[in-house]
Amino acid sequence: MAEAALAQDMSEAELVELAKRVLPAGGFGNVSYPLIVARGEGSHVWDVSGNEYIDYLLGSGPMIVGHAHPEVLAATQDCVTQGTTFFANNADGIRLAAEIVDAMPSVEQVRFVSSGSEADMYAMRLARAHTGRDKILKFEGGYHGMSDFGLISLAPKRKSNFPVGVPDSPGIPKSVQQEMLVAPYNDLAMVESLVKEHKGEIAAILAEPFQRLIPPQPGFLEGLRRITEENDILLIFDEVVTGFRFAYGGAQQYYGVMPDICTMGKAIGGGFPLAAIGGKAEIMANFDKSAVGDDKFMAQIGTLSGNPVAAAAGRKTLEILKRPGSYDTLFARGEALMEGYRDILKRRNIEAKVVGDAPMFDVIFTNQDVVDYRSSLGDPEKAAKYNAGMRKRGILKSEGKHYIGICHTEADIEATIRAFDESMVEL
Ligand SMILES: Cc1ncc(COP(=O)(O)O)c(C=O)c1O
Repeated sequence: MAEAALAQDMSEAELVELAKRVLPAGGFGNVSYPLIVARGEGSHVWDVSGNEYIDYLLGSGPMIVGHAHPEVLAATQDCVTQGTTFFANNADGIRLAAEIVDAMPSVEQVRFVSSGSEADMYAMRLARAHTGRDKILKFEGGYHGMSDFGLISLAPKRKSNFPVGVPDSPGIPKSVQQEMLVAPYNDLAMVESLVKEHKGEIAAILAEPFQRLIPPQPGFLEGLRRITEENDILLIFDEVVTGFRFAYGGAQQYYGVMPDICTMGKAIGGGFPLAAIGGKAEIMANFDKSAVGDDKFMAQIGTLSGNPVAAAAGRKTLEILKRPGSYDTLFARGEALMEGYRDILKRRNIEAKVVGDAPMFDVIFTNQDVVDYRSSLGDPEKAAKYNAGMRKRGILKSEGKHYIGICHTEADIEATIRAFDESMVEL
């Protein structure tokens, strides 16, 4: 307690020191740089020392309408005064579920959880419960949260021979590795042959419809849909990041391919812990004992599931995103920044690519076409220098991407392009 009270008046350097003592690796496990954020407003954040940044972290995605949005704050404050959690159904949660069902074309019902990791874990279990099979096929480099299953070949340091996956953490039982099949993203031929080889064993193909920064090649998602349908396998789209970001109806609407199950998070909680599994009612019925009976019933319980404050913030965030012009702004800002970066790389003759799409992209220092995890690795030393150079110039981003929000202004984009140009000179 004394330590916490003391922390109120500490300088940023003192906080960094305290963090090193009381938190493993001095942090929460997310971004690693020694920066303590004090507050955010719109597209900007300030650190404890008072330095201002243009923010392309956006809380790792959820703050797509900007920090401390006055309407989201008002909705949250109205809700908070009525009590903050009940463990029983609440009106905001039910209405948020209805909004998601209206928005996401493939979703007929949703079940709430508190994080994207949890949503993905349940989505995989749901597919197993529904089909009675154990194996999940995922793509190397695809991020599906921190569960034992999700951490197979997320960011493998050593190459395995497909379809063998590599556990990205100690502590993952060998049995988990055996239940996952791993293929390179955008490689339909490999998917097709794995499905043939493991006929009758695969519960689902799990994919990010836009993997990290890598767009699906034309026909890839359609191919996954065809192969899964032909082989009676479920298709799961992890839309934790793409949902309400690529379009109001997510990447499934943007690319026009419908999964059987999808997971959502980030934007739908408006900056609070809330995520969801969504899908066809027939599949979601596995969460309903009266519909499927004791043997098929999947228990799913969470203290904060459907939390009313998170649901109120999420509903208001979605209401703002749904207004005319929101996605035009988001795409215009992202495209302008990508274009600005591309011009500089060309003008300065730097071997690098701007990879991604307007809502989410980054610069990768490579001359290869980026189509899967292995081709996306680029030159890590140059990437580290570029990221440090941007941060030094007041641009806050993750090591691997820019999240664009409707909060970013034309002035933000111009200032960011200037910072990029200077960083490239330094590089
Ligand atoms: C595609 C994807 N799935 C799952 C997750 C995990 O979500 P959370 O951090 O809420 O557990 C993330 C987080 O960035 C994600 O991008």
